[in-house]
Amino acid sequence: MTTDNWLADTRTSYDTVAVSYNDQARDAIGGDPHRRAALEVFADRVKAAGGGPVADLGCGPGHVTAHLRRLGVDAFGIDLFPGMIAVARYDHPDLHFEVGSMTDLHLSDASVAGLLAWWPLIHIPDDEAPTVFAHCRRVLRLGGPLQLGFHVGDTTQLETQHYGGHPMTVYVHRRQPDQVASWLCGAGFEIEVQWLCSPDDHVPQASLFARRSS
Ligand SMILES: C[S@@+](CC[C@H](N)C(=O)[O-])C[C@H]1O[C@@H](n2cnc3c(N)ncnc32)[C@H](O)[C@@H]1O
Repeated sequence: MTTDNWLADTRTSYDTVAVSYNDQARDAIGGDPHRRAALEVFADRVKAAGGGPVADLGCGPGHVTAHLRRLGVDAFGIDLFPGMIAVARYDHPDLHFEVGSMTDLHLSDASVAGLLAWWPLIHIPDDEAPTVFAHCRRVLRLGGPLQLGFHVGDTTQLETQHYGGHPMTVYVHRRQPDQVASWLCGAGFEIEVQWLCSPDDHVPQASLFARRSS
């Protein structure tokens, strides 16, 4: 695999893992008070900004989208991989999910009240990040909140199996929060909070809260 066809390879890779990823991820929020708190803060920020539709980007099997709905947020999901969207629609038939890429969001300008992107950024190469955040700014209303989750570090790793030992061919990019914050600020966002989760783990996690400021 080369980085040139990373989008096709990511899509194919997640083809093999949709069901097992769902099995592993389904209860992840319930068992993690910090992730639950992050979603509650996000839901409060959406409501404080006036409410409205919220896109869960890289929604995977839709469990986070469903959690946002339980928090009173009008959330829908977008994911690159049709198999993930099929699982999401099956598990959450009352919610709206669509296939799409963060690199080319087919949403109207200023059409969403909030954006959540929990960990799809790990599959976006550096040179595509400004495009992704330009799309985020375009589709988000002025003042609307954005929350990102991502792996912290300085390396890019080629994963060849994951989520229950299924074969994958996908790059996983780890970033420093300041790097992600710099991309966001360059795209017209203001950083509100950076959380560093499990800093002593081999791969710490970050949760970054921002809002569209211009
Ligand atoms: C690690 S999973 C996270 C899923 C879910 N957000 C969660 O928190 O469990 C990453 C997800 O991002 C999706 N993804 C990867 N690249 C994407 C892109 N360019 N646009 C939209 N989704 C993407 C993958 O299909 C996968 O479902």
